Amino acid sequence: MLHRLILNMFLVTACLVFPALQAAENPTVLITGSNRGIGLEIARIYAERGWTVIATARRPEATDDLKAIRVKHPNLVIEQLDVTDHARIDALAAQYRDKPIDILINNAGISGGHENAKFGEMNYDVYYEVHRVNVIGPTKMAEAFLPSVVMSEQKKIINITSGQGSIAKTWGCCTIYRSSKAALNMMMRNISLELKKKGITVGLISPGFVKTGFTPGLDLPMMITPVESATKVVAVIDEYDLEDTGTFLGKDGQTWPW
Ligand SMILES: NC(=O)c1ccc[n+]([C@@H]2O[C@H](COP(=O)([O-])OP(=O)(O)OC[C@H]3O[C@@H](n4cnc5c(N)ncnc54)[C@H](OP(=O)(O)O)[C@@H]3O)[C@@H](O)[C@H]2O)c1
Repeated sequence: MLHRLILNMFLVTACLVFPALQAAENPTVLITGSNRGIGLEIARIYAERGWTVIATARRPEATDDLKAIRVKHPNLVIEQLDVTDHARIDALAAQYRDKPIDILINNAGISGGHENAKFGEMNYDVYYEVHRVNVIGPTKMAEAFLPSVVMSEQKKIINITSGQGSIAKTWGCCTIYRSSKAALNMMMRNISLELKKKGITVGLISPGFVKTGFTPGLDLPMMITPVESATKVVAVIDEYDLEDTGTFLGKDGQTWPW
């Protein structure tokens, strides 16, 4: 830890003295679903660090908060991306094929709603859609952007999962969402085993119980703000390395039961 701190201090000093060095060395992060909620605050943190931020959103016309960050941090670019649109994922990956992407953050996610997830009254259209967004989307993103991650310094594919994806639950709820995050965990665990030999870290992070559009109308004492969640998630990402690859961590860096 101490030698990392000293190295960081050296790099910050070097960047102050040689701004050109900073431009050449700044890492890049790509975030899905970055127009609101946790993804927006993660984008803000990296932009403030001076990173190149590829902030993706389904509807670039509805990205006022991202545009406000971009005014102060022109190192943030907004790209259209729906993670269920595989042709668009391939096109965006091709656009960035020669650009190292240090961290790919699969953040976009949907819950599908409790009313659609009651056993006996399952809404199977919603079931498919939630898995398309929460499981297949991140998998396709990891495949498509692998060349850019491989050529980067940090080589991380980070997935925002959920404690709800833990099989160890003892009370029933939100079957569709839970099964999607459990499937995401298994998929990324497998991918981590394959990619470890390429030096790529695959991470699974649960961001806490967060007041966002994901939890409409909820204001419970254990809930945190998107800023608090994103700050903790980014701190976990900072420390996530190849030794941890394929582990399921919480927002405070604790190990979650599968
Ligand atoms: N909030 C919590 O308590 C909590 C807890 C555990 C895990 N999580 C996870 O944290 C992640 C972020 O959630 P949040 O709380 O920030 O939710 P949020 O405020 O509802 O934001 C969700 C984001 O995902 C985007 N999105 C949805 N479908 C998409 C698609 N097909 N393609 C691309 N983007 C899409 C949304 O874009 P639009 O604006 O276009 O809809 C939005 O930017 C999710 O993976 C969620 O499962 C959240």
